[in-house]
Amino acid sequence: MQKFLDDLLSRMTLEEKFGQLNLLAVGFDITGPILNNQVDEKIRAGRVGAIIGAYTVSAVRPLQEFAVRQSRLGIPLLFACDVVHGQRTIFPIPLGLSASWNPELVRRTARAAADEATAEGLNWTYSPMVDISREPRWGRVMEGAGEDPHLGALIAAAMVSGYQQDDLSKPDSLLACVKHFALYGAPEGGRDYNTVDMSRLRMFNEYLAPYAAAVSAGAGSVMTAFNEVEGVPATANRWLLRELLRQRWGFGGFVVTDYGTLPEIITHGAAADRDEATVSALAAGTDMDMASEFFITDGARLVKEGRLAAADVDAACRRVLTAKYQLGLFQNPFKNLDRDTAPLRVLTPDKLQLAREAAVKSMVLLRNERRTLPLTAGQKILFTGPLVARQRDLIGAWSAGGDWQRAVSLRAALEQKFGDTGSGITFAQGCNLIDDPAYFAKLEKSCLLEKSAQAPAALRAAAARAAADADVVVAVLGEAFKMSGEACCRADIGLPPQQRELLKALKLTGKPLVLVLMNGRPLTLEWEAANVDAILEAWFPGTQGGPALVDVLFGDAAPTGKLTMSFPRHVGQIPVYYNHKNGNRPYQENGWFTSRYQDVPNDPLFPFGHGLTYTDFTLGAPTLDKTAIVSGSGDALTVSVPVTNTGSRDGTETVQLYIRDMAASVTRPVKELKDFRQVFVRAGETLTVVFTISEEMLKFYNADLRYLAEPGEFQVLTGSDSARLQCATFRLVQ
Ligand code: BGC
Repeated sequence: MQKFLDDLLSRMTLEEKFGQLNLLAVGFDITGPILNNQVDEKIRAGRVGAIIGAYTVSAVRPLQEFAVRQSRLGIPLLFACDVVHGQRTIFPIPLGLSASWNPELVRRTARAAADEATAEGLNWTYSPMVDISREPRWGRVMEGAGEDPHLGALIAAAMVSGYQQDDLSKPDSLLACVKHFALYGAPEGGRDYNTVDMSRLRMFNEYLAPYAAAVSAGAGSVMTAFNEVEGVPATANRWLLRELLRQRWGFGGFVVTDYGTLPEIITHGAAADRDEATVSALAAGTDMDMASEFFITDGARLVKEGRLAAADVDAACRRVLTAKYQLGLFQNPFKNLDRDTAPLRVLTPDKLQLAREAAVKSMVLLRNERRTLPLTAGQKILFTGPLVARQRDLIGAWSAGGDWQRAVSLRAALEQKFGDTGSGITFAQGCNLIDDPAYFAKLEKSCLLEKSAQAPAALRAAAARAAADADVVVAVLGEAFKMSGEACCRADIGLPPQQRELLKALKLTGKPLVLVLMNGRPLTLEWEAANVDAILEAWFPGTQGGPALVDVLFGDAAPTGKLTMSFPRHVGQIPVYYNHKNGNRPYQENGWFTSRYQDVPNDPLFPFGHGLTYTDFTLGAPTLDKTAIVSGSGDALTVSVPVTNTGSRDGTETVQLYIRDMAASVTRPVKELKDFRQVFVRAGETLTVVFTISEEMLKFYNADLRYLAEPGEFQVLTGSDSARLQCATFRLVQ
């Protein structure tokens, strides 16, 4: 490969080299890309290295032909899209997928997405999004795996492996792009595009692990974040891109900017003009420019003026060409474009089945008083709420080529299962998704929102009347899909007011009340948790959301998901996350001079790791086979946790293991997830889960950013969620 690339590079003009660093955005509609002649011309002139926004063989093939047959050197293009949770078959949003606590399942969804995406001519996806976040106000938490670095790292690696299969040359392998490097999930106030600032200690111990895991899983590209890191925009941050990513982590792929982050270096106030922005980005280690065309316009001149190093341009160009080589595009630029295999590969029964399985496994049963769930066929059930029948929201934001009209609503799935006669199932709209006129106006178009001709009070009254005839009421409420995603931040993360009004009206009927939620972030649900009998969090569940919900609601499948982000009681608590520090005066309910609010407790409403199922589990205390590990000896100890299914149904429990380092050279969190195990236990039976603790699991970054374990006392905490834990102690000794 190196010989091939040396030869190619030696034949390229400076302009052609910058061409490889240029990513052009093209619009796209169903019949093909909306191209202007300029795009064709630029491709022919060797001024384009990659395209975002075109897919399907008929759209991609002509563009690749321009590049390969009509440009001077015939270098093939990369074709990118945000295939984030599926290409045509849409899986639950990533936050939902993470709630499965099942990296292998997540890998399978990424694999299926890659198969569909490559069938449609794509070879590069802007996924996985691995930004750790403790900010439920931030709309982009829907795209990530939640608040925990350990689980986040496992999922990041699983997705990379699903996309790339350790071999990019396979026809159905998709080049992954880890984003957004780095720390994009920590914007001040939870507001998108806002300032990020944190200590290196926090970065290394709490935020960077998933990026590093994706890199060591072989991710071929990395996308810079919109935000600044230590006062320097990520796209121009030499420490981030050269020292951390390339030198420390050994990343050998290429770095692409996020959309327009090159000009935004100027907006940030870190460059005076476009020349400075271009120079700072390339010098910092950014290789490819998404959308601004600064590189292509000014790059060659800046090299000639001596402001940009030709060697940096060569190195960037080589990295992009390497990815193309690894994808096999030089051998066959029309890989996947010779024949349209999409009809055989997209939305196939096996992929739809996987979407249904993934949706089932992502659902989290937050509450279930008096075993209100599962429902029983034959009961008189009222389904109410705007999300019972809506399809558009099911596939959520970032749904690539997903066609919402292929998404099966809950109502359609119920009708399919029970027919429309004699089933005892009735429907009432109950409320609009959003009533507030200003909010409605913001989302109306993109979310295809409608308002009923009936007044809100009349809608509610009709639902309450229908509820009076039912044995149980299921309200399906939450967010319109564009209430989360990029630039979709909220200061109030409760249910929209009229949705809560509906619940209040239903509550007055005295009927058992189930709340099914579809949403893209943790919500504040204090009233709901105190007043409804059962709450099932379904996220935006994807193409097969309706059938999956029917499976879970009627008990054909049991919910097994666990939260990967804490659900606060109140917005004022944010950030609220499980792996916090102890502080000097930890919370005591009645301790005046302790760290607390006067009006709200410190703990979240639903903690990280929480999730019920249709049976009950009792976990015994952890027992250790020894009480010390000898440092440096490869020594390990085992932790045994008995898990008893005390209910009457077989079921699955996710047993979680956390560790606390009691005293160290820098303070350590009160607990950190280190391992977990999903076990199936038959009703009435007990199974023992055995974990191994090695010195590796005790390591952290010290004040010098050295990764090490320090001798001393540790707690091992095991249980069903991050708040209900039992403890044993051991020591790391010299
Ligand atoms: C987002 C990225 C995305 C890119 C291309 C940006 O606005 O931040 O996550 O990959 O657009 O669509």
